[in-house]
Amino acid sequence: MAVNSTLDRIFVLELVRVTEAAAIAAAKLVGMGDEKAADAAAVDSMRNEFNALPIKGRIVIGEGERDEAPMLYIGEEVGTGEGPEIDIALDPLEGTTIAAKAMQNSLAVVALAEKDNLLNAPDVYMDKIAVGPGLPKGIVDLDNSVEENVKAVADAKGRQVSDMLVCVLDRPRHAKLIEDIRATGARVKLIGDGDVAGVIDTTDPDTSVDLYMGSGGAPEGVLAAAALRCIGGQIQGRLTFRNDTERDRARKWGIEDLDRKYITEEMAAGDVIFAATGVTDGTLLRGVHSTPDGKGYTTDTVVMRSASKTVRNIKTVHNREIKLS
Ligand code: FBP
Repeated sequence: MAVNSTLDRIFVLELVRVTEAAAIAAAKLVGMGDEKAADAAAVDSMRNEFNALPIKGRIVIGEGERDEAPMLYIGEEVGTGEGPEIDIALDPLEGTTIAAKAMQNSLAVVALAEKDNLLNAPDVYMDKIAVGPGLPKGIVDLDNSVEENVKAVADAKGRQVSDMLVCVLDRPRHAKLIEDIRATGARVKLIGDGDVAGVIDTTDPDTSVDLYMGSGGAPEGVLAAAALRCIGGQIQGRLTFRNDTERDRARKWGIEDLDRKYITEEMAAGDVIFAATGVTDGTLLRGVHSTPDGKGYTTDTVVMRSASKTVRNIKTVHNREIKLS
């Protein structure tokens, strides 16, 4: 299939540099117990790399609103300003706490799409349900009961409900959800943080995860949707609001129907590129490691594109002694 779109003019591999740089910067602070410092290092490096790309980039999912995030804030323009208009969703350090504690699955993540194709999700919670590829469209639904959803996936996979493994963020707010899942006979994999990886795990049989359920960040929902557009699978999301300030924030970004359920293509439409580099080791990627001679780092990145369904795994050795001018 010939693939023609604005994103043809972006080197997919250029995006790898962006997430690699953020991951290496954050990795220097892994295990240091300072979430803010690790995040700031990732943000700074990612922004520098973005500003070298020949695009008119606009951040739609970023570090927060302009008044609270000095860099990579929502609405910030990045790139050289010459080239195609691109919308960007990013999380320079997804899983700040896990990075600070040197635990599993922190990532540097970016998704690109042509202008106006990514949901302008505010920084509120989103109820999410996701499954991997090869299942009938609409097989799970946020308005179905936990039992209906788990059973539908088990039936479609030709397996017993007791074989099902559902990934959920380990939070007090999920106590009832976890109880309901276990009541069906299905098993629950609890993760401390990092639901972008949690959703993507549904696409990888090696993780044994069949479904992802529960609420997490809405920006992470859009990033996960972008990944599933490339690798296959489905996610449904609905924003949830704790107060009127959060509702106003959503309206400010043009969301009128606050109860709307979004399917994968409504969160990340058109041609999408998704890239992630591991900061710490995880189910999806290895983290950043020093080379045995101590002269460099290795990074592990996945970069994929929805139009071509290409999935590239890129392992890079970076020599820290060589500086190019
Ligand atoms: P950060 O990288 O911003 O720390 O987010 C980590 C994360 O676990 C996300 O993956 C998830 O969507 C969100 O936090 C859940 O929020 P909360 O910790 O408030 O339950």
